[in-house]
Amino acid sequence: MKVGILGLGSYIPEKVITNHDLEKFLDTSDEWIRTRTGIVERRFANENEATSDLATVAAKRALEDANLKPQDIDLIIVGTNSPDMLYPATACLVQDKIGAAGKCAAFDLQAGCPGFVYATVVGAQFVKSGAYKHVLVIGAEVITRMMDPTDRTTYVLFGDGAGAVVLGEVEDDRGIIDFELYADGSIAEHLTLPAGGSRKPFSEEVLKERSYFTKMNGGEVFKFSVREISRISEKLLDKTGTKLEDIDWFIPHQANLRIIQAGAEKLGIPMEKVVVTIDKFGNSSAASIPISLDTIRKEGKLKRGNLVLMVSFGAGMTSGAILMRW
Ligand code: ACO
Repeated sequence: MKVGILGLGSYIPEKVITNHDLEKFLDTSDEWIRTRTGIVERRFANENEATSDLATVAAKRALEDANLKPQDIDLIIVGTNSPDMLYPATACLVQDKIGAAGKCAAFDLQAGCPGFVYATVVGAQFVKSGAYKHVLVIGAEVITRMMDPTDRTTYVLFGDGAGAVVLGEVEDDRGIIDFELYADGSIAEHLTLPAGGSRKPFSEEVLKERSYFTKMNGGEVFKFSVREISRISEKLLDKTGTKLEDIDWFIPHQANLRIIQAGAEKLGIPMEKVVVTIDKFGNSSAASIPISLDTIRKEGKLKRGNLVLMVSFGAGMTSGAILMRW
């Protein structure tokens, strides 16, 4: 049985934050941000919006696209690093908001920025096994709230957003061909949000040291990301006997344009096949891949039969790739 995407949707908050907006309160410049990251602007969620709100809009759009009702969904998985709360799972909140309360299973999956890729792979296994017919997979983040507004090295990089897909059985000539997932916990220290969990519960000390915000070793994350883009892609291409030149669209996680360019060059894929949305949306963590997929579809570039390679990397450190035919 082939499993693939029956419906796709995304939601990007309206509030645009340009590099010039950040210049007003951070020791940074439009020029630095553009040249070091490729980001021109990003979107911030409104004060009253949390991750489940963004996820809900994307989910409704994906359901509509699939021509399915909330009651048709058997499982909801939300890949996120910025859940509404530590618990309950954001997926449970989304279940209620889309009008499917009590009708299906729901859980969150935390795997750093590859959260959507991991969740898609997990969701696809339920369909493939015959356990479930339709799985709603969402990558959603209000990740900007996990960033320190006084830390120019992280705050300028991120944006909020959500993307969703409905997975189900598809025709034999399309769908997910294969995947590759990877994690190396021995280097987890390079990208963390240290406080608020059981290791370091919230306290006055946490407040003082601002450890309730993301801490990142940018250089190490950069090296890992460039290496993983090519390593995991090559492994997946080898495994499936796919030639690099047969890939129509390469969708990397949108972390930094320089990472994307260096990774694409190492892999040997020309930039005209590489999807770039970071200039407009910044790094939306687990949401960046489904947002990018929906962006090229809306632009009319994604055609039935196109071979698509999606690759992500992030906190854990984790990486993941999916090869699929649209
Ligand atoms: N504005 C102005 N100057 C800055 C800024 C800023 N926003 N941020 C850092 N600088 C300064 C630094 O302080 C440093 O100054 P110094 O030389 O006086 O010490 C200088 O710019 C150069 O800093 P570097 O860290 O060497 O800059 P680099 O070119 O490596 O870029 C960056 C930093 C953008 C963070 C890069 O390392 C990177 O992209 N790393 C990957 C991180 C990433 O993508 N994270 C995303 C989150 S995780 C994920 O999605 C997988």
